[in-house]
Amino acid sequence: MKNRPRVRMGLASALALVALVLLTYVPFAMSDDPPKPTSGEEPHRSPIALALSTDGTRILTANQTSGTVSLVDTAAGRVLAEVATGDKPAGVALAKDGRRGAVTHWYGYDLAVLEVGSEKLEVVGRVAVGPEPRGVVIGDDGKTAYVAVGVSNEVVRVDLDAREVTGRLAVGREPRGLALSPDGTHLLVGNTRSQSLSLISLGSWTVERTFPIKGDNLRQVTFSGDGSTGYVANLRNKGFATTRNNIDLGWVLGQCLTRVRIDDSEPFATLTLDAQGRAAADVYGAAAGRDGQYLAVSCGGTHEVMIFRTDLAKLPWRSLSSRDMIDPSLLKNDGRFRRVAVGGRPTELAFAADGKTLYVANYLDDSIQVVDAVSAKLTHTIPLGGPKELSLVRRGEILFHAAERSFNQWYSCSTCHPDGHTNGLDFDTLNDGRQDLSTAHLRSRKKVPTLRRVSETGPWTWHGWQKSLEDATIESFTKSMQGPRPADDEVKALVAYLNTLEFPRNPFRNPDGSLSPEAQRGEAIFRSSKTACTKCHSGPELTDGKIHIVGLEERDDAYEGYNPPSLRGVYDKDPFLHDGRSKTLRDALTDPHSPEIVSALGTLSESETDDLIAYLKSL
Ligand code: HEC
Ligand code: HEC
Repeated sequence: MKNRPRVRMGLASALALVALVLLTYVPFAMSDDPPKPTSGEEPHRSPIALALSTDGTRILTANQTSGTVSLVDTAAGRVLAEVATGDKPAGVALAKDGRRGAVTHWYGYDLAVLEVGSEKLEVVGRVAVGPEPRGVVIGDDGKTAYVAVGVSNEVVRVDLDAREVTGRLAVGREPRGLALSPDGTHLLVGNTRSQSLSLISLGSWTVERTFPIKGDNLRQVTFSGDGSTGYVANLRNKGFATTRNNIDLGWVLGQCLTRVRIDDSEPFATLTLDAQGRAAADVYGAAAGRDGQYLAVSCGGTHEVMIFRTDLAKLPWRSLSSRDMIDPSLLKNDGRFRRVAVGGRPTELAFAADGKTLYVANYLDDSIQVVDAVSAKLTHTIPLGGPKELSLVRRGEILFHAAERSFNQWYSCSTCHPDGHTNGLDFDTLNDGRQDLSTAHLRSRKKVPTLRRVSETGPWTWHGWQKSLEDATIESFTKSMQGPRPADDEVKALVAYLNTLEFPRNPFRNPDGSLSPEAQRGEAIFRSSKTACTKCHSGPELTDGKIHIVGLEERDDAYEGYNPPSLRGVYDKDPFLHDGRSKTLRDALTDPHSPEIVSALGTLSESETDDLIAYLKSL
């Protein structure tokens, strides 16, 4: 039973290796044209991040699904070179002189150092940085990179010459976005799962300040041109059940741009982005022009870029309470706010030095797009390459990210299950059979489960009443999203996409996949009759697929008992239990889900609990 996942991982990495070797030998760099779809084998590029050179002539893109980085000539509007770099590129940076780049690998756990020629791109080194790195910037010295490492909750400093890690700083939970201040002295870091931004002083290498904000799913972070202000695009979870009425009032969730003053002279403030009847979904990119005239936000779910003009009249920032809906004054067409349809899934943004030309990485469009902020028009598109026809999996991925499938386009599947994982939040998606929605909205909220390996972990929902994954996805469209019922081929496509969602390599195992001594002791405790964990957490996915009463039942549950969740990848599933009541594994195992409560068996000593946690983290 322990072998099965390892065999799968082996196969996945073997395939990745084959793909990498193939890509390395495909002579992209030789061709005069952007890589053209040649056969069905041509991969989607799916740019998730971009870096613009200081002189504005070049862009590097991190191509998540092809495992490559592309070098783009902005004037000619074409790809000059492309190189295979690693497993799921996630963030990319360029040094000020434009000659050196760095790309992080979300599943590869490393950073590749790139040499950037005028028409050439080469991987010249590699540095392991830790599990699930994403955002990266290169400091003004051109030889130090800073990386946000999501699972270890750190910003890691890398010497690009020596190719080694020279420092690690603890920040909030799941740091992703990272921005360098215009004077090169500070970093601003968005902590996706702990509602905060961290300000790091590079000189003293300390966290100088932490800005608590009200927001989740924090994505791209950016500074204003004068360095006084930081911006991040984020979601706000409002907590009410997913009825049409609640959705349309902005009471389920909403999107905003959040602003912090770097000197902490004012509390954080927000601009709500949702218009009634035509909401914004899945904000991702945030960019500010150097001269401060334009601000831009990308919305992956509603396939658009929003442009704010700041010099006509003040923008309606709100500091104490955020609005549920966009400020009505912004809808008066006075030039301060415009929405530009770009299609696909726009992700990171960057303004050229003129503060008006906006570059957009578009994941589902396999392109870099150029938007003119003055006219609020998409002026051209630079294709990065991709297959001619959409595969079933890609169609599923498109559906998964499409907010038009929800009521008035307020959100997509990926809003709650970003990257097919969990954003760690609770929602009441009407999936527990409860009928009385007037009083129960807070108690019936459920922690969003990960969808990694979801086809292996039926029955579905926390209560485990749902016996078919196909039906679970239909319910998700019609109840969680309050959108139209999907057609049969859409369900097939969506499930095909879900089946591609694998756990990343376990970072708590030894490099050869074996367990640490603590984890070995913990495994013995897990399997002992003292805990009886395996009574319920058994089989290849550590769930027996049955329903159990474990003392967490609620008075008006429509379905009694819960289905043991898979414990695979549990180190990154916090907070725990069906309502997210336990922040850490220790909290769960010492109180609501301790062996004496769950099985009325013996208590564990502190060191036994430590060992058990070490084992759980290795799963
Ligand atoms: C508003 C947040 C939200 C949205 C949007 C959302 N989900 Fe979920 N999803 C949840 C929550 C919360 C649960 C747990 C519900 C429960 O157990 O009662 C869940 C459960 C699931 C499950 C069952 C997982 C398991 O292991 O039991 C699947 C499958 C799923 N969602 C797929 C989707 C798909 C596909 C979409 C888009 C069509 C989607 N979800 C949209 C929040 C969301
Ligand atoms: C009687 C069955 C049963 C036994 C025995 C049991 N569990 Fe569970 N476990 C469950 C159920 C059911 C849930 C979900 C409960 C809920 O969230 O309301 C759960 C949840 C968990 C979670 C939270 C996972 C998450 O993603 O939130 C962890 C961790 C866990 N169990 C570990 C253990 C360990 C370790 C043991 C042994 C000490 C154990 N369990 C014993 C049934 C059991």
